[in-house]
Amino acid sequence: MTLRRRRFDSLVIGAGGGGLRAALQLARADATVAVVSKVFPTRSHTVAAQGGINAALANVLPDNWHWHMYDTIKGSDYLGDQDAIEYMCRSAAHLVYELEHAGVPFSRLDNGRIYQRPFGGQSQHFGGEQAARTCAAADRTGHAILHTLYQQNIRARTHFFDEYFAIDLIRDEQGTILGALVLDIESGEPLLIEAKTTLLATGGAGQLFRTNTNAHINTGDGLAMALRAGIPLQDMEFFQFHPTGIAGKGMLLSEGARGEGGYLLNAEGERFMERYAPHAKDLASRDVVSRAIYQEVREGRGCGPARDHVLLKVDHLGEEVVASRLPAIRQLAQTFAGVDMAKEPVPVYPTAHYTMGGIPTNRHGQVVVPVGKGEEVIPGLYAVGECACVSVHGANRLGGNSLLDIVVFGRAAGNHIIDYLRENRFHRPMSEQHLEPALAHLGHWERKGEGESVDALRSELQRTMEEYCGVFRSREVLSEGLQKVLALQQRLEGVTLHDHSRIFNTARIEAFEMENLVQLAIATVSSALAREESRGAHSRVDFPERDDERWLKHSLFYLEGRRMDYKPVRMKPLSVDSFPPKPRVY
Ligand code: FUM
Repeated sequence: MTLRRRRFDSLVIGAGGGGLRAALQLARADATVAVVSKVFPTRSHTVAAQGGINAALANVLPDNWHWHMYDTIKGSDYLGDQDAIEYMCRSAAHLVYELEHAGVPFSRLDNGRIYQRPFGGQSQHFGGEQAARTCAAADRTGHAILHTLYQQNIRARTHFFDEYFAIDLIRDEQGTILGALVLDIESGEPLLIEAKTTLLATGGAGQLFRTNTNAHINTGDGLAMALRAGIPLQDMEFFQFHPTGIAGKGMLLSEGARGEGGYLLNAEGERFMERYAPHAKDLASRDVVSRAIYQEVREGRGCGPARDHVLLKVDHLGEEVVASRLPAIRQLAQTFAGVDMAKEPVPVYPTAHYTMGGIPTNRHGQVVVPVGKGEEVIPGLYAVGECACVSVHGANRLGGNSLLDIVVFGRAAGNHIIDYLRENRFHRPMSEQHLEPALAHLGHWERKGEGESVDALRSELQRTMEEYCGVFRSREVLSEGLQKVLALQQRLEGVTLHDHSRIFNTARIEAFEMENLVQLAIATVSSALAREESRGAHSRVDFPERDDERWLKHSLFYLEGRRMDYKPVRMKPLSVDSFPPKPRVY
């Protein structure tokens, strides 16, 4: 069979907000752009973002980007790179107005300005009173942004390959990225997309954990593609657990519920966050609130017959506020917990939510790797959004900063690619040899095994990650977890893909996804095992303190040899003074 080929200036893999914002910038600059997505674009996981996007517009309370920058650095437990954080917070207002003008239907204040709600970890005056920085379209902000960006891309003539699955990047001898091999899910036919630049925007890997807020598609495909291309993944030990998933199920109930005035209760009817975060209370940052919930449950103050959750109460806000500001989560709670939030509290428990680590990039979205004592960019390769680690979230992301991250760095990458295309006007030659690794990988999952099903292995991996690499970690538990994940990797090799002697395309896709998840599980557990301190979302019971002397650095995990390396945090902002590490209290 001859391999179908297409050529574009730019290839974007992933059609969430980051990919679409970059594609829009490129298409508007008359570049030819292909967006490859394994689902129809508006089903990308950005659609599920609820509470909003942060920007210091000061529509409700006094605010400015410098306070936002401080909160983000403190929220990151000082692991965020301060140049990238300054860039993001300074750009935020412009980017939100741009979205407004592109058609995002933000909720409105009585004076017509964009509605903003308080979110966790936000403050005025560098740690003072609560700020209200999160611009919201009710509790469907991601949905509103994704649909708007998709429509704008259609208008700008971006070319979409819907329901195509990306297998691997194509590299030449110098390490320049020449495009990617993708698979048409419907026909099972491979397609080679040659491009002068390739942008990974494939989202996170929430499917690593059993209870999560993520779409079924969030299997970290771009992260694993980067690993296989020899690129290390940065800070993979930092995985965010959102405090308020529906108990036992995991679906997200937005932090917006607490932003609107909701709060958490234990079995004794106590507002327990007052003990853990006397100042910010229920709006402390997510790592703090999630750990508090675990502790309440562990100490016997959980609710329900099994005492295994706490309650999120918003019924005191009244029908009007719940109906206008929180309609989507009300529906979720009704469907999955059988509770009308406007009338009674809903059972909640922390749930895996966000991959803080990822493909190391600079603030232009270029992928950067350590070389000698310095760093080099990988020519032609970019990454943005949850699959990237720029790093604006460090060890703990603030709510409302992920939608901001995708539009800010999607646009920045688009702009950088436009410059790159001016200087690199021709496609580089691609030989059969360059294609070999990707084609061999494609062939790997064409065979029929006789072993276990992929689905059974995926469930086991998720249970393993939850049990051995959850919120509280120790050397003993992580070491055992790593052995279990490595054993699962072995078992995957014997997996069966056929049903009544046929191999369905979807079965192959599931095998590719599972392979990606296993590689990311190994990266996550290995990085967590290596980091002997507690910082942000990474809580080691055997090393309970933050240790800036030894560990104020980014970790890098390489697939080959499961090797760890480290690099410094960029503490120097672009134009203001640095925020040095301080004890982090809320
Ligand atoms: O709680 C939420 O609405 C989630 C927002 C976020 O993760 O940024």
